[in-house]
Order: sequence, then C-alpha cells, then structure tokens
Amino acid sequence: MRIFVDCDPGIDDALALAYLTAHSDVELVGVGTVFGNNSVDVTTGNALRLLRLYGRPDVPVSRGAGRPLVQPPTLAESVHGANGLGDIDVPEADAVPTTESAAEALVRAARSAPGEVDVLAVGPLTNLALALGLEPELPRLVRRVVVMGGAVRVPGNVTPWAEANTANDPEAAEVVFAAGFDLTLVALDVTMRATAPAAWLDELKTLEGDRACTTSSFLDFYVGWYSKALGERTCAMHDPLAAAVLLDPALATEALEVPVRVELHGTHTRGLTVADLRSNAADDDRPAVRLVTEVDTEAFFTRMMDALR
Ligand code: RIB
Ligand code: CA
Repeated sequence: MRIFVDCDPGIDDALALAYLTAHSDVELVGVGTVFGNNSVDVTTGNALRLLRLYGRPDVPVSRGAGRPLVQPPTLAESVHGANGLGDIDVPEADAVPTTESAAEALVRAARSAPGEVDVLAVGPLTNLALALGLEPELPRLVRRVVVMGGAVRVPGNVTPWAEANTANDPEAAEVVFAAGFDLTLVALDVTMRATAPAAWLDELKTLEGDRACTTSSFLDFYVGWYSKALGERTCAMHDPLAAAVLLDPALATEALEVPVRVELHGTHTRGLTVADLRSNAADDDRPAVRLVTEVDTEAFFTRMMDALR
C-alpha cells in the first residue's frame, strides 16, 4: 500500500505514524504537515522527529500550510503540550523538509502512480484543498482518502458542534468533501467511542524500547487532558483509528454513504459537518462520502498495541 499522510503532530498523529510505520506492507510515499495542534514549524519538526523515532527517517516530509484558507489559526497546546508532543524532548532528526510544499508533494505522488496512492488526512484539510487547486483531477488520481474529522451525530470537541480539524479550516473541508474523492470519514462519532481503556494504557507502560516508552510518555500529557475532560483515565485515539481503518477497511463494521457539507456561515455552528441522512439522499447532487458509524474497537486496540511493541 502506498500512503501519503497529511498531519499536524500532535500526540494522536504520532500514534498514527507509529501504527503505519509498524506495517511492512505500507510504503509511506510522503508526509505533509499543516498547522493545527501547533504551528506548522512545530508540526514539521515533530513529523521529522517522529519518523526518526519510529525507524523511518528516510520518508520525505513536506511542510504545508501555516494557516487556514480564510480564518486565523487556532492551536491546541492545552491538549498536546507546548511542543505538540506532551512536552517530551524527542531527539532532533538529521533530515530536513523537502523543498516542495505538502500540496505539491501530494500532487506529485498522485501523478507519479495514478490510482495507487491512498491519503490519510488527520489534520485540518488545508493542504488537500490547496492540492485540488493545483490538480483538479486529484480525486481520480488518488485511490482513496481517509479523513479524521467532523462530528455528524455527536457534539463537537472545540465548539458544541464542530470537531477540531474541520473547525480549523471549514472552507478547506467543504472543498474536499465536495471534490468527489473516494472518501471515508472517521469522525468523532466513532473516535469518541474508541477511547483507550486504563488497562490498555497500563499495559503499554510494561512494553520496553524507545518506540513504546516514548509514545507512552507523550500519552501521559494527553491522557491528563482527556481524563480531566471525561472524568476517567483515558484518551481518544482519533488519528490512529483513522490509520487503522485505512489499512483495513473491515475495521469499520458499519458505515453510511451520505453527502456531507460543512457549515460556513452559522452564527454558532461554523465548522459543523452536516450529513444528508434522508433515505432519498441519492437525489442530492453532492457526491456521497463513507461515514463510519461503528468500528471494531477491540481489534483496533490489539493492533495498536502490537504496532508499539
Ligand atoms: O479532533 C481531533 C483531531 O484534531 C485529531 O486529528 C487531533 O490530532 C487534532 O488534530
Ligand atoms: Ca491530527
């Protein structure tokens, strides 16, 4: 499998990279970075450091958008730490970012192997929207896209209605959802039901080696934030769940094919992902996306642990 990852590392982005790099059948053709959990300078440095930590320093990293298409950026230091990785010092990488932007790198990867590259998008969708501007045929050139983003039938996480990646660039998300990609949406609807059990977090602490120990230290900070928010020792596994669904679509045990739009004007609801859930939604002229509604969480947590061993 050839995969291009677009991300804003970020602690759960780190887990997604850990998951992918543990699979020998995954060829990471590139990693693009975007503002989101932190500034794009920080997320780019983190992507390079994480690829080194997870044994793939050879994967090219391309710096992407530093701000959303329209609005000013909002960062998430309270969730991911001032350095985006739970304030854990991760050794600097020798590698430096490519001279291409993330959007350019994605377009080049897609053009060089039409129909073969899958995209995992786990940050604001700014780079994908910019890539569509460079190459309108992108939805036909990539094989499929798995997006972590949105909150369709559940509350948001940064506003009562909006999920962080969508709220961070609603215009970009709207462009991407309209574009006609073979797109799977792993939204808060499922990620907030796949929260890490305390026993799983404890088991992770028993693993040896840099891969597991450093990841477990990132998680201490993230678990601290989620435990306060949810009232129990846990954390959400948004981005690695999306990575796992990309590698094995059967992990998504139920899904709906529905058109999804992003609210751009609501006084209180900007960034809300609105799905057409009517039974005759086929009349809608917006291309449908696959909205995951159930996942095999037990299998996911087993595989995530294996990926960190
Ligand atoms: O809402 C969760 C998403 O926002 C995740 O991708 C997390 O890393 C942040 O980017
Ligand atoms: Ca992310």
